[in-house]
Amino acid sequence: MTFDTKAFRQALGAFPTGVVVVTATSEAEPVGITVNSFTSVSLDPPLVLWCLKKDSQRYAGFAEARSYTISVLGTEHEDVSARLARQGEHRLSDMGLFATELGPPALADALAIFECAAHAMHEGGDHMILIGRVLRFARRDTGAPLVFHRGSYGALSEA
Ligand SMILES: Cc1cc2nc3c(=O)[nH]c(=O)nc-3n(C[C@H](O)[C@H](O)[C@H](O)COP(=O)(O)O)c2cc1C
Repeated sequence: MTFDTKAFRQALGAFPTGVVVVTATSEAEPVGITVNSFTSVSLDPPLVLWCLKKDSQRYAGFAEARSYTISVLGTEHEDVSARLARQGEHRLSDMGLFATELGPPALADALAIFECAAHAMHEGGDHMILIGRVLRFARRDTGAPLVFHRGSYGALSEA
């Protein structure tokens, strides 16, 4: 039986997600990547995960990083998300950023930020599963999350 990878990907797109940007400073300049595989793992200890494609040009920058910062995007960050999803485009220049206490910069006006120490990496087929231990976090009380669904950006509709 052949497995239709394109149809599989489209089926996965039926599951709506938020969008985050992950930043790391393991290379000469900070790098960022748009990710929707972010999820919570554990409250105690505080762990989160995200998945990084092994053939990403940014792979080494993140896989070798000792820490990374995860910024949860709002609807106003669609341009940032599109830019950091562009192949080969991982620079953070000309973006609204602020310095974090522990490591890589966070996105200004993110709905939440999680400052993580690299905790573990697990094999996940063509992706690597990166588990981060959250050392510091912050959140905004307001703001609408950027949503990714069926390959397009959207927002939650008001109840
Ligand atoms: C909404 C969205 C979510 C994405 N989620 C992931 C992800 O979870 N993991 C990943 O490795 N790439 C993800 N990507 C793709 C990367 O952002 C980027 O396009 C990819 O790494 C190719 O570029 P590169 O080879 O320069 O890294 C996502 C892209 C978009 C638009």
